[in-house]
Parts: sequence; C-alpha cells; structure tokens
Amino acid sequence: MEIVILGSSKQIGKLAADAIEDLVRHKPNAVLGLATGSSPLPVYDELADRHEGGLDFSQASAFTLDEYVGLPAGHPESYREVIRREFTNRVNIAPENVHGPDGTAQDIPAACQAYEEAIAAAGGVDLQLLGVGTDGHLAFNEPGSSFASRTRIKSLIEQTRRDNARFFNSLAEVPHHVLTQGLGTIMEARHVILLATGAQKAQAVRDFVEGPVSAICPASVLQFHPHATVLLDEAAASALKLADFYRHTYDNKPAWQGL
Ligand code: GLP
Repeated sequence: MEIVILGSSKQIGKLAADAIEDLVRHKPNAVLGLATGSSPLPVYDELADRHEGGLDFSQASAFTLDEYVGLPAGHPESYREVIRREFTNRVNIAPENVHGPDGTAQDIPAACQAYEEAIAAAGGVDLQLLGVGTDGHLAFNEPGSSFASRTRIKSLIEQTRRDNARFFNSLAEVPHHVLTQGLGTIMEARHVILLATGAQKAQAVRDFVEGPVSAICPASVLQFHPHATVLLDEAAASALKLADFYRHTYDNKPAWQGL
C-alpha cells in the first residue's frame, strides 16, 4: 500500500486525475471504477476540466461501486444519478458504457450476478476509485463483510445512514438496504486509489492502513492488494504512526515510478 499525504483535496484530485489521464491515454478503452460520496468530487472536477482541454473518454467505460435499494429510478440521490451528475455527464463517456448495480431490480440476486458478469465481460476494472466510511467500510461493505464477498444486497449500519443523511431531507429517507460490489470484487481491480480527507476519517484511516487485517475494518483488506494507493490530506493522516516515513518515501520516490 502506498500512502501519499498531500496539502489539500485539490492536490489529491489532481494526483488521482493524473493516474486516470495516464491510463486513458495509454488505454483509450480503459474500464474505470467510480465511487460516490464527497471524497472523489475533486477528481471528477479535475477530469471534467481536462476533458474541456481535450482528454477523451469516448472509448472508456465505467462501473460504479454501489447503489441504494428502494429509491425510484431517477431519484436524485440514487448513485446512478449522482455519478451522472458529478462525472459522466461532464465528460464524453457514452451513457451506455456507464454501469451500476440495479437497485430497482425485482430479482436482486439475478441483478447482482448480472453486474458481476458485466464487469468480467468488460475485462475487469483497470482503476478503481474508492472512499472509506467512518466505520472503515469500502463501497457499502460494512464491518463484518466477507473478504471474499461479491456483489450482493447489504444492510447499512446506523452510523453510515447518519453519515449519508446529509444528502437526504431526513434520516428516515435514507434507505436501509443497498447493493454493493463485494470486497472480493473490488480486490480484482488492477489498481485501486482510495481518497480520504478530513479529521473525521483519521481513525478509519489508521485502522485500515496500520491496524490488523480484519473484517471489522473492511478497508483493511487493501493491505492484501498488490497495487493500492491511498491519498490523504493532513487531517485524515493525523493518526498514522508512520506518517513521517510515508512523507519521506513519497518525497524521494523516483519520478519514473508514477502512482
Ligand atoms: C458512502 C459510499 C462509499 C463512500 C463513503 C464515504 O457510504 N457508499 O463508497 O466511500 O460513503 O463517503 P464520503 O467520501 O462522502 O466521506
């Protein structure tokens, strides 16, 4: 796991966008893994700017991590709509190349299976953006999720519903159920970039970066990922024991290595 501590979320957005730009230039039909939440927004803003400057996504495709169950199609807080609004409508990814788990499906297990098959048929995810929940969740894999899990229905922990209530009119409106790529699914992405900013993430960051690998902290599974990059601001990095070592390592990294 590579830990990079930067001064601002704008810098984090630029560095993650550099990795995505590099990928899309070398592999125009790249498969991007997109995350919702506020953490990736600076990346999407940066990519939208670069698209205005000519960065082309016309052959790329995208898979989102998760979705609420029970929100009507087109609900502004469904992740399908959020991703459309925050990113894919602002670049030239073909709408038919943007995929998400179907939270409106009648047959949920079949929809989850179909999603796994769609990711596999696309050749797997090249670069997956991730955030982390204050409880250490990845996508909507709450504490206790199996490290081998695949796309499936999950129940949200109350802490997550409260965290996400800011996007709804009231806590009561936040769904209790979600569809989410499993930890096993996420671990198959060839490169994962997790972004975390703000003091409210400091404990979760310390737990998954430096704590034991354990299902109680789902993001700790990334300690087993062969190519995981963690981009943090100072506040999110503030509880890390080896922060100085991570800074020194990054400052002295050979330029040719990239992320
Ligand atoms: C939600 C999403 C996660 C996201 C998390 C953190 O629960 N399902 O994918 O990582 O929120 O969100 P934020 O980046 O807004 O802190």
